[in-house]
Parts: sequence; structure tokens; C-alpha cells
Amino acid sequence: MDSRIAEFREPEAPPVEDVRPERVEDILRRDAIAASDTLLISTENRLGTAPVDASRYYSPEFFKLEIERMWPCVWQYAAWSYDIPDPGDVAVYRNAGRSVLVVRQKDKSIKAFANSCLHRGRELCTDAVQHKDELKCPYHGFTWSIDGSLKWVPCQWDFPNVKPDTHKLPEIRCEEWNGFVFINFKNDASSLATYMGKMVEQWESVDSWNFHKRYRLVSVIRPIAVNWKACMDAFIEVLHAFESHTHTRTGGGDVQTQYDIWEDEPHFSRMHTPMGVASPHCVPRPTPQETVDSWVGGFAAELSGHPDTTLREGETPREAMQRLASFVYKQRMGVDLSAEPVSLLVDPIQYTLFPNFGPWSSLGAPIVYRFLPGEDADHCIFETQVFLPFEGERPPSGRTVVVNPGESLASVPELGGLGLILQQDVENLEAMQQGMKASLTNRLTLSEYQEVRIRHYHQTLDKYLSGELSNHTIK
Ligand code: FES
Ligand SMILES: [Fe+2]
Repeated sequence: MDSRIAEFREPEAPPVEDVRPERVEDILRRDAIAASDTLLISTENRLGTAPVDASRYYSPEFFKLEIERMWPCVWQYAAWSYDIPDPGDVAVYRNAGRSVLVVRQKDKSIKAFANSCLHRGRELCTDAVQHKDELKCPYHGFTWSIDGSLKWVPCQWDFPNVKPDTHKLPEIRCEEWNGFVFINFKNDASSLATYMGKMVEQWESVDSWNFHKRYRLVSVIRPIAVNWKACMDAFIEVLHAFESHTHTRTGGGDVQTQYDIWEDEPHFSRMHTPMGVASPHCVPRPTPQETVDSWVGGFAAELSGHPDTTLREGETPREAMQRLASFVYKQRMGVDLSAEPVSLLVDPIQYTLFPNFGPWSSLGAPIVYRFLPGEDADHCIFETQVFLPFEGERPPSGRTVVVNPGESLASVPELGGLGLILQQDVENLEAMQQGMKASLTNRLTLSEYQEVRIRHYHQTLDKYLSGELSNHTIK
């Protein structure tokens, strides 16, 4: 017999997992410092088990429908307000074939305009962020004041039809939430707060979720050859963590993660991953000290092996993590968070606001995601912004870095241990688009609970594409 065949040994499958692991609410109720009531809500809602049509992720026609029927109707995160603190500061937001100027006004309010000269259409500004005393088109010099009023036209004698009342820069709806500036192309859209629904009050209920108390350390942009929705999917469930992020298996939960959708809320959902409890897949079970050590390696590698990382008598891993995380925040940023619960300091808690905005409320992952479509269905732009608390005067916003394909997100120092995790995610994503197109069933299978947030936003997307939600006049 061929010796190569004789040597083949297929590993046994792990035991069938037919019992759901401990729930986040039960873990939170044991914490020494109580979690906020908002985190103790658990919706347990489901949306069935129907397969998902894979072509939603690669069909040019579907992509075109999104551009025509969804993107023009939704509130979109366009700028971080503290990037444009002074009158005349301008941020440029480009998405889905459009370009928008977000401009700080003399009275400190913010206006948004189409970034298109009313002469022959050049973009008025091109840098991501810049300061302008006036909005002068670099092509022929048509000029507007920062409030959008027409200021000057070259050879006015030759433009008898161009007057201040005919050539104001067209304004775009613009509102702010928690320091984030959103725009909406629908003039008659309902307010951002109405669109966000209960997400607003949930965030207001926890003082530490106030992003006015944070500054933007870095924005990291990674173009990826994958559909924007497949990219977002990778960051709104934790089922993939055991296989994709093997180094995180012992330090935190994965399939214990709680997922919340609300039946009357089409635009937001959330998830909460408990740290300090190892993945139930781990066999043999790690010791509590191994769980703490694993988490320290990712969160504060400089503390690895330090005596303070040893569990104290009677201390649980989550109690040790609370103690160590508040110490690290004091050391790194001078902020005293010693009275804050471990759920704030250590657990990653993520909301997503339809269609593509992902703010993490806690400090467990102090970031915000934005998933933008690329030039076609097969490309997207994945952006991660890090927001940190500060003490005293607000530090200036940090740099924007573009990490191109072939470069590693693990090489961006501001991302810390998160960089490796994001890089692992990107490596999956680069194999997604081809894989979905290779499907013979054209059906994707979603879990009933852990991937319910994916199903939820796809259902909302369908409502925009069908016209059921177009102006989001939510009753
Ligand atoms: S295109 Fe702007 S001034 Fe001509
Ligand atoms: Fe991941």
C-alpha cells in the first residue's frame, strides 16, 4: 500500500456543542462594580434561519441599487467634529460617488455643502481636512464664503445669470451626535435622533460613553478587495474569533457574546463580548491566571510578567482586569477610571448604526469603524478610528494613515494589540469575494443568534431598496 495513504489520519471532530454557554448578563451580575442598567438589557430577538443570497455581495446591479436607493437616503458619518474645531475648518467626505464639504461656521455650528463648483463642477476642496478663509475654486476662481453664499465670480460681465441668489452652494442636511457629524442627502429626512431611535438614550445613560470626552488618536484606512457588506459582517460577530484570532482564545469570551436587535429599531444593533472568561471551545480549560496573562499580552504587553498581574487571593480574572486596566489608563493617559466597572474598561461593546457606522461604546475596544463602498461591488474602504479619553486640555486629533494591500495593519503603532487582530480579519476578507463568487449554491448560511445582526441590517437594506424605507419616516 502507498505509505502516504497509510499515514493519513483525519482528526476527530470536537464534541457536538448543543448547549449555549453562559450569558453575558449572568457574568455581569457577578462583577464587583455593577455594570450600567443599559448593559443588563438582553433582547434575545431572532430573525429566522433563511439562507442569504450571495450575489448581494458581488452583483453590479445590486451595488447600483444601493447607490441609487439606499445611500442617498441614510444618515452617514461624515466627519469627527473636533477635526474641524475653528471657523473655516473643512472636512471632505466622499462616498458612493458623491463628495461633501463639512464646514465649521463663524457661530461654531456646522454646515455641509455639495463639494462641487457651480461653474464647471470641480471639487472645491480635496484634502481630507483643511482650513479655508473662503471657498475658492482652484480652477477659475469662483468663490464662496464659508456659509455657502456666493462671494465673487471672475468676469461677472460674462456671467449675467450668476447672482448670489441663484448660485449659493447647495446645502446638505447635517447633524451631530456625540461629536460625530452626519450628513443626509434627503432634505426632508427625519432627524438623526429619530433615525437612531433608542440608541440615543442608551448612550446618554452611561456617562463614560460620551465621546466629547475623547480625542481621535488615529484614523487607519485600509482599501480591501471585498464588498463593503462582507467587510462589515466580519466586524459585527465574534463567532469567528476562535479560528481567526487564535491568540485571543483564553483571555476573553467569543461565543458567549451577547447580540441585541430591537424589533422596532431598523437602524441599530449591538454586541457585548465578556472578557476574563475563556472561550468554551478551549480544551483543556485554561487556568484563571492563564486567562489574565493572555489578556495582558494583548492589552498591555509591557506588563507581561509583572508581579501585579498575578491574581490576588480570592480575585477573579475580571476583578484583576479591572484593577490592571484602570492602572494602565492612569499610567498612559493620566485618567482615573478606578471606580469604573470592568465592563467599561475591558469588555468590547459595539453598536452599529445603519448602514456603516460602528462606534464601540466601552474602552475595551476604544474605536469606531466605518465601512465605505469602493468603486464597485468588489471593493471597499475599511476605516478604524481610535478614540481615547484624556485628562486636562484636549489633545489635537492624530494622523490619518492609509495601509495599502500588502502592508500590515499590525505595523500601525497606534492600534496596539488591535492591529494584529484587524490584520487577521483582513486576511479572511481578501479571500471572501472570490469564495462567494465560487459558490454553486449561491446561498450563505447564517447562525440564528450570533449572526442575527448581519441578518438585521440586510433586512433594513432590503427595506430601502424596495422603497419601504426611503425617507425613514419612522413612526
Ligand atoms: S470649475 Fe470652479 S471656477 Fe471653474
Ligand atoms: Fe475579527
